[in-house]
Amino acid sequence: MHDMDIDKVALDEIDVSRPELFRDEAWQPWFARLRKEDPVHYTPESANGAFWAVTKHGLIKQVDINHEVFSSETGGISIVDGPPGDDTEPADTQIENFIAMDPPRHDEQRKTVSPSVAPSNLAKLEPLIRERVVDILENLPVGETFNWVDKVSIELTARMLATLFDFPYEDRRKLVHWSDITTDIPQVTGKEGTDLEERHNELMRCAEAFYALWHERAAQPPKFDLISMLAHGESTKHMHENPRLFLGNILLLIVGGNDTTRNSISGGIIALNEYPDEYRKLRENPQLIPNMVAEIVRWQTPVIHMRRTATRDFELGGKNIREGEKVVMWYLSGNRDEDVYPDADRLIIDRPNARSHVSFGFGIHRCMGNRLAEMQLRVLWEEIMQRFHTIELVGDVVRLPNNFIRGIAEVPVRLHPL
Ligand code: HEM
Repeated sequence: MHDMDIDKVALDEIDVSRPELFRDEAWQPWFARLRKEDPVHYTPESANGAFWAVTKHGLIKQVDINHEVFSSETGGISIVDGPPGDDTEPADTQIENFIAMDPPRHDEQRKTVSPSVAPSNLAKLEPLIRERVVDILENLPVGETFNWVDKVSIELTARMLATLFDFPYEDRRKLVHWSDITTDIPQVTGKEGTDLEERHNELMRCAEAFYALWHERAAQPPKFDLISMLAHGESTKHMHENPRLFLGNILLLIVGGNDTTRNSISGGIIALNEYPDEYRKLRENPQLIPNMVAEIVRWQTPVIHMRRTATRDFELGGKNIREGEKVVMWYLSGNRDEDVYPDADRLIIDRPNARSHVSFGFGIHRCMGNRLAEMQLRVLWEEIMQRFHTIELVGDVVRLPNNFIRGIAEVPVRLHPL
């Protein structure tokens, strides 16, 4: 459908949830049209049924902040109904976690886990992260073409996750695999033939590995890794008695900390190659790195959408949303809203309002790991600028057909050292 002349497609036929739009990087004109003509847009039919598409920055914030009307618990947080694979999967991989809860349960659980990513704890983590970043960068193959995603984006986030969980370091790529399969369901990727039984078995292996860690940490005095904090936390220490909740919260932390940061690392390389003037600006003024990190997270928008379900009839942007209807906030579109970001499709590393992006959401569910993600990206770019004049994109970027995570599989690059 994205090959069609967009202006000839009737408004009510537009469905921005088609995964191939994101694989083919063909989403811009569709969202631009909705922002202009129908910012709260009803799609009566899609692979995931009817939904409202909210596409303007301000309207997205209105939905995100109003958690009483727009529930995360009622139907889950992605356009796919219920927890991933709800109907198709055995009961033991139907999962629950606090991103898909409303108050008071949400608040209690978040409160227990969040100190692990508070600024004081992050400051303790920063030297270790820097050490791991430097190790990765120093061992890259200069003079060869290689896939930045695999050698840097995945490797760095895997190391990071292993650190957060104090997970066996040599098994760190398992965390990446578990994260990948969590969102690998046909309704999200549009892919036929995903082996759901194998997926289920793998998630069970993930649960087993984390049960083992949990029991080990519960028997020890509290430490500062996430598993220890959960095992000792007043409102989460019985979490392991409920397998759905246990696996759900573990996967939330794995997916939350993995795909998103990974794709921001890859997206930054793509963006700077697309806008070489910005790369030049960065070389001339590395002080811009913190603002650039925010701008990369805006430009990339690693989480494409979040979904809510209306708990009662509500008027939004002049449209009448009814109780029980699915409301999808398209963060990717909100971040390209020209009324908020002039020349919105461009990366502008000193953009004054880069920080106002909606990539981390808004309101009570605002990303818990946002400072951690920013710190990782900042440290990475600080160390890159110490070593390389340019990381040159030398081939085609390969993207994934996924309407939830803005996934990048291949970024072929060559390094030009200083
Ligand atoms: C650039 C990187 C990241 C992006 C773009 C991102 C994006 C998001 C978004 C959009 C939400 C939901 C916000 C809403 O519904 O209003 C969220 C929630 C969450 N994120 Fe992140 N995230 C990132 C990194 C991380 C990291 C590194 C962690 C690891 C700790 C993490 C953990 C979480 C958790 C636990 C939640 C649930 C919060 C809640 O429901 O209260 N995220 N994130």
